[in-house]
Amino acid sequence: MTPLLEVQNLTKSYPVGRKGLFGKRMMQVLRDVSLSVHPGEVLGLVGESGSGKSTIGRAVLRLIGADSGTIRFEGQDLSAISSTDLRRLRKDMQIIFQDPYASLDPRKTIRAVLTEALDTHKLHLGTARAERLIGLMEMVGLNPTFLDRRPHEFSGGQRQRIGIARALAVEPKFIVCDEAVSALDVSIQAQVLNLLADLRAKTGISLLFISHDLSVVRYISDRVMVLYLGKVMEVGPADQIHFDPEHPYTAALISAEPSLKHTSQRIRLTGEIPSPLTPPSGCVFRTRCPYALPACAETVPPLRDAGQGRMKACIRDDIL
Ligand SMILES: Nc1ncnc2c1ncn2[C@@H]1O[C@H](COP(=O)(O)OP(=O)(O)O)[C@@H](O)[C@H]1O
Ligand code: SF4
Ligand SMILES: [Mg+2]
Repeated sequence: MTPLLEVQNLTKSYPVGRKGLFGKRMMQVLRDVSLSVHPGEVLGLVGESGSGKSTIGRAVLRLIGADSGTIRFEGQDLSAISSTDLRRLRKDMQIIFQDPYASLDPRKTIRAVLTEALDTHKLHLGTARAERLIGLMEMVGLNPTFLDRRPHEFSGGQRQRIGIARALAVEPKFIVCDEAVSALDVSIQAQVLNLLADLRAKTGISLLFISHDLSVVRYISDRVMVLYLGKVMEVGPADQIHFDPEHPYTAALISAEPSLKHTSQRIRLTGEIPSPLTPPSGCVFRTRCPYALPACAETVPPLRDAGQGRMKACIRDDIL
């Protein structure tokens, strides 16, 4: 099946600090990231804070530019398309953030927020509009009588539902959910995750589901991709990643989850993530890897086939 979204060899750096003698110092935050999302698929993206998850989410939507690499949506190269085509594609690719409150205008009613989204793409005009607004509220489990309320009248979970309704309003094919449930209480998290899972089942929408929390990612994802210092460590079916990780970093993430104790080997992560300004040579995880060998410092391990639909970036096969 042709992927809906296909990203190849994405790299991204940000300038840091003040301009020096030799220009700005650059910090590389994405290293050769490739991924694909198929129609109807949920790809989970997990990694510690600062690993580059949001940068990937924004780059695939072309909200920020990348240094190199290609991004294809339905086979179209996003760096090569005209601004008119990009505007049209914007309808198909939406984003939901951690804090919808920050992106909701406090003076606008929910009706105004959703109407604006529909107007932008000239959808459901005329008499169909009122029905569509009610339908959207029902889709996300909100009472349609709330349409004339303003954001401050809602709880965190309800506001996230509004954020989802706004994204769904334009009938996208793909949504980036960037820490979409991370600010919510655990019980509310489960409700919003269930809503997203239901919507996916009903509409066949694809998601790139980003979270620092592996248990949340696993719950909703078909496949999971594990990121460390802007580099893909492992990718594969969610259950396999969880029950039988191939990469020491994935095993360490699982060991750190209080509710997940399915791995035979517990790996306790010691030390801090290195600064992206001074990444380790070779395998970027080696300074925290209990299995590191001298060879791990020499070359960057390529992402290679690890069987059963999995890929891993580790030179060792004899450890997990
Ligand atoms: N606009 C920016 N300018 C400079 N550095 C940035 C910018 N956005 C993110 N970064 C840095 O890039 C790295 C990756 O950030 P981000 O993609 O937000 O990671 P995550 O979402 O996994 O926490 C971090 O070190 C962060 O400080
Ligand atoms: S390549 Fe070496 S340092 Fe990196 S994860 Fe594998 S064993 Fe650990
Ligand atoms: Mg982030």
